[in-house]
Amino acid sequence: MRFEGKVAIVTGAGSGIGRATARRFASEGARVCLVDVNEAGLAESLPEGDHMTMTCDVSDEAQVEALVSAVVAKWGRVDAVANNAGISCTKEPITENTPEIWQKVLGVNLIGVANVIKHAGRVMTGQGSGAIVNTASVAGIRSGAGGNAYSASKAGVINLTQTAACDLGGFNVRVNAVCPGLIETGMTKPIFDMARDKGKEEKLGSRCELRRYGRPEEIAAAICFLASDDASYITGQALPVDGGNTASLNLPGMKV
Ligand SMILES: NC(=O)c1ccc[n+]([C@@H]2O[C@H](COP(=O)([O-])OP(=O)(O)OC[C@H]3O[C@@H](n4cnc5c(N)ncnc54)[C@H](O)[C@@H]3O)[C@@H](O)[C@H]2O)c1
Repeated sequence: MRFEGKVAIVTGAGSGIGRATARRFASEGARVCLVDVNEAGLAESLPEGDHMTMTCDVSDEAQVEALVSAVVAKWGRVDAVANNAGISCTKEPITENTPEIWQKVLGVNLIGVANVIKHAGRVMTGQGSGAIVNTASVAGIRSGAGGNAYSASKAGVINLTQTAACDLGGFNVRVNAVCPGLIETGMTKPIFDMARDKGKEEKLGSRCELRRYGRPEEIAAAICFLASDDASYITGQALPVDGGNTASLNLPGMKV
């Protein structure tokens, strides 16, 4: 019960990693505000107890400001944020990328994260405590796990984690990130569907050192660790939660 009496906001809580994270926070005693653009998804994610849902597009700063105000109006504080909402993009070569795709993906994945840090951060600095955990990706560390805009947005989230940690550290507010590897969620459903159709499910994640893909609950566990007092001396860090994927050069033919 690491979050007994605490208030958490989870963005992208209508599906996948965000849903698992909201449930984990709730199971450890937090009152949780579940946030998403997908209202039906939020209804499915909502745990039993004293929790709330908010429909909010994190790329729109006015909506984020209203979200944080609503949480403070209801519960008076914000102790933890899982800044997790995100979208992917197709993997066409850089020569084919459009300005629209760059703006859309950076708008949600990077500026959306900055919007939430800004407004939750104002509350946390006023309290003199708080922890923010951003969901980046292995795609922000190496190429090959997402399209150009997606990967750049996640590299941006890793750096924003460092700069925000520096801005907020003097107020006892910590900012960290997780970098998930391949996890089965709404975002990756097409990849899993295609592999299953071709009878190649066992290939998914097989290049990780743990030789498997991950579950949303395994990312939720890492997010809640970083948001908890167990991580009280950790800030500005981006933790790969990827079955060892980024630990290896993964040269073809080298796995035994
Ligand atoms: N699934 C993976 O393999 C994987 C790997 C690395 C990182 N991630 C990251 O994990 C995070 C969660 O993704 P997921 O895999 O659970 O996917 P998902 O699609 O299941 O969940 C993402 C959620 O974010 C919501 N969302 C999208 N745009 C939004 C916006 N503008 N405002 C508010 N909510 C919005 C979606 O409606 C959805 O419910 C994302 O940031 C994603 O980039 C996922």
